[in-house]
Amino acid sequence: MSNPAERNGLLIVFQPEGRRGVFPKGITILAAAKDLGIDLASICGGMGLCGKCKVVIRSGGELLNPLTSSEMKCLEPGEIKAGFRLACQARGVSGGRIVVEVPEQSRSGKQRLLVEGRPVEVELEPAVRELVIEVSKPTLEDPLADFERLLKSTGLSELDQVDLQVLRELPAALREGGWSVAVIVHTKRGILMVRPARSSRGLYGFAVDIGTTKLAGYLIDLRTGKVLSVASSPNPQIPYGEDVISRIAYASRSDENLEELHRVIVEGVNKLIEDACRSAGVDASEIVELVAVGNTLMHHLFLGLPPKYLAASPYPPVVRRALDFRASDLGVRILPSGNVHMLPNVAGFVGADAVADVLATGIHRSRELCFVIDVGTNTEIVVGNMSGMYSASCASGPAFEGAHIKFGMRATSGAIERVWIDPSDLSVQYQVIDDVKPKGICGSGIVDALAEMLNAGVVDTMGRIVTRESQRVREGSDGPEFVIAFKEETAIGKDIVITQRDVRELQKAKAAMYTGASIVMKEAGVGVRQIKKVYIAGAFGLYIDPSSARRIGMIPPFPLHIISQVGNAAGTGAKIALTSLRKRLECGEIVSKMRYIELAAHPDFQQEFLAAMYLPHLELDRFGDMVEKMDNLTVSNKHKALLERLMRRENRKPKCDDQTCGSPIKNG
Ligand code: FES
Repeated sequence: MSNPAERNGLLIVFQPEGRRGVFPKGITILAAAKDLGIDLASICGGMGLCGKCKVVIRSGGELLNPLTSSEMKCLEPGEIKAGFRLACQARGVSGGRIVVEVPEQSRSGKQRLLVEGRPVEVELEPAVRELVIEVSKPTLEDPLADFERLLKSTGLSELDQVDLQVLRELPAALREGGWSVAVIVHTKRGILMVRPARSSRGLYGFAVDIGTTKLAGYLIDLRTGKVLSVASSPNPQIPYGEDVISRIAYASRSDENLEELHRVIVEGVNKLIEDACRSAGVDASEIVELVAVGNTLMHHLFLGLPPKYLAASPYPPVVRRALDFRASDLGVRILPSGNVHMLPNVAGFVGADAVADVLATGIHRSRELCFVIDVGTNTEIVVGNMSGMYSASCASGPAFEGAHIKFGMRATSGAIERVWIDPSDLSVQYQVIDDVKPKGICGSGIVDALAEMLNAGVVDTMGRIVTRESQRVREGSDGPEFVIAFKEETAIGKDIVITQRDVRELQKAKAAMYTGASIVMKEAGVGVRQIKKVYIAGAFGLYIDPSSARRIGMIPPFPLHIISQVGNAAGTGAKIALTSLRKRLECGEIVSKMRYIELAAHPDFQQEFLAAMYLPHLELDRFGDMVEKMDNLTVSNKHKALLERLMRRENRKPKCDDQTCGSPIKNG
C-alpha cells in the first residue's frame, strides 16, 4: 500500500545507492537525480543531445511519458527493449513509485582536474597591507572621535569612505588592544578591518579560476606569498548546460534562472574556499581578498549580470573594466568586509581568463612573438608580444571533454588517455587513467586516437573511416567504426570504438581551434615561422600530446621544441594578480594592447573552417615537412579541385611571406 506522499506525487528510488525522494508530477528523472545528489552525467545540460544520461527503469515505467524523439535517436533498439531511458527526457506523469538504476557508464565520476600552473616568481606586494600602529588615547583635552583618531595615526586622513562594519567593531578593537591595533588597508576600498595588534590572526588571500567546466582555487598567505592549499571541483553549473551558449540560453529565459546560476556558482566558490581552508587549518574570515578570473560569461554569472547580449551581435559585455566589491555583497564567505577583485574582460567572449593567461605567460612583456592557446570548451587564442596582441575565442565545444563522442568521458578513472596504433596490423595499445579496465576515452586519448588512425590510414584526409582488412574496422550501428578496445578488455562489457560520427565531431572541434589560430595570426600579420614561443594552457592542454594535436591540425604546425604546456595559466594569472598590485595594474595595459577579433563575423571564417575540417588541413602545404613523414596522407585531385574553387572564391590580400611581410606587430 503506497503512502499519501506517493499517492500525491512520485516516489523515485535510485539504485544502487538506494537514495529516494518524493517529487511533484512532471519532474524529469535527471532533475530528481540532481536533487538527491546522484552522480549522473548530463553533458548537454538536459537538452536530449548528448545521450550520456542513460538510466534503466527497473519498475514504474508506465508512470513515465512515452519515449521522445531524442530518445529514439540516442537509444539503440536493444536498449529501449531493456528499459533504458534518457534521464533528461523521462518525466513522471502519474503518481506512484519508480525505481531507476544508474549504470556505471552514465556516471560522470570524480574528475581529474588540473589546478597547477607554471610557477611564476613575483615580488610580494598585495593590494592589502597590514599596518600595526599605536593610537593615542582620547583625553578631555583631546576628545577626537575613534575613527578620526585612527586615521590621524595611520596617516590616512584623506580616506573618504568607511565600511560600516569597521566602525561598529572599532571601539572594541581599540580598547581591547590597549590602543595598539592592526589595520588592514586595501588600496581601493580603504580600511577593511581593525583588530587588536596582539591578535594572532592571519592575512590570507584566495585566487579562483572560474572555468566553464571546472573551478580551481588557491589559498595564499599574503604575508609570505606561499600557496597553503589548492582546491578544485567541477563547475556546479554544468547540469544547466555544458557550453557557454546553453548557459546563456538558460540564464536568459527568466530572472529566476539567472539568479539560480549566480547562486550556484557563488556557492561553488564558497565550497572551494571551505575545502581549501579546511586542508590548511585556516578560518575563512581571515581571507581579506579574493581575486577571480573567468571567461566573460562566468564573470557575468558570478556577479549576477545578465548575459543575454553576449550571445547577440555585436556581443557587448555589461562591463569590461576591473571591479572591486565588498565580499558580503556578493555572498562570498570570506571576511565580510573583505574585497572581491574581478580582473577586466577583453570583449564578449574573451574574458579575464585570457588576460590572466597573458599575465602568467608574460607575452605582453616579450620581444619575441608568442602564441597562447587556452584549450577548453571555449578556447581562447592570443598572438602577439609587447607591442600588441590579437585575441579571439573559438567555440571548440565539449567534444574533447568527451561530449558527443560515443564512448567519450571526462578525464577520470577508467578513461583511455593515450592510444598507439601499429599501422602494419592495426593492433592498438592504450593507457588508462588509474590503470584500471577502460570505461571510455577522454580528450587526450581522443586526440591520440584520431592522429594514430590518420597515420595508420584508418581515416583519410577527409575524415572518412576507410575499409581495411581488420576486425577492428567494421560497420557498426552508427556506420563505420574503429575498435580501440574489445569488450573482454573493458569495464563496461562493450567494445570501445571511435565511430564515423565521432570523427566528424572531432573534425569540427579541431577545425574551430585551427580556424581561430589561423585568423588571429592572419590579422596579426604573422606566420608560423615568426612565432618563437607557443604556450598550450588549460587542463586538457596539459595532457594532450602536442605532436598528435599538430598531426590532426588542431594547432598550426609549430616546431615541437617551442611548445610549452603551462597547465592552468588562468589560475596562475589570478594568483599573480592577488599577490602583486603592480602586476594587477598591468592587466589594464594588457586589455588596452589587445585587439579582439570576432571570428564568426570574419569574412574568411567559413572557408578557413571548411579547409580546416580536413586532416590535418585542406592545404597540406601549410603542414610542410610534417606531412612528408605521414606516408598515408595524400590529397586527391578532387581535393585539389575543391581547394582551387575555394581559393578562386577567396577575396584575400596577397599571400604574406612568413619572413618578409609587414606585420602590424613588431617582431623584436
Ligand atoms: S541527453 Fe540527457 S543530459 Fe544530454
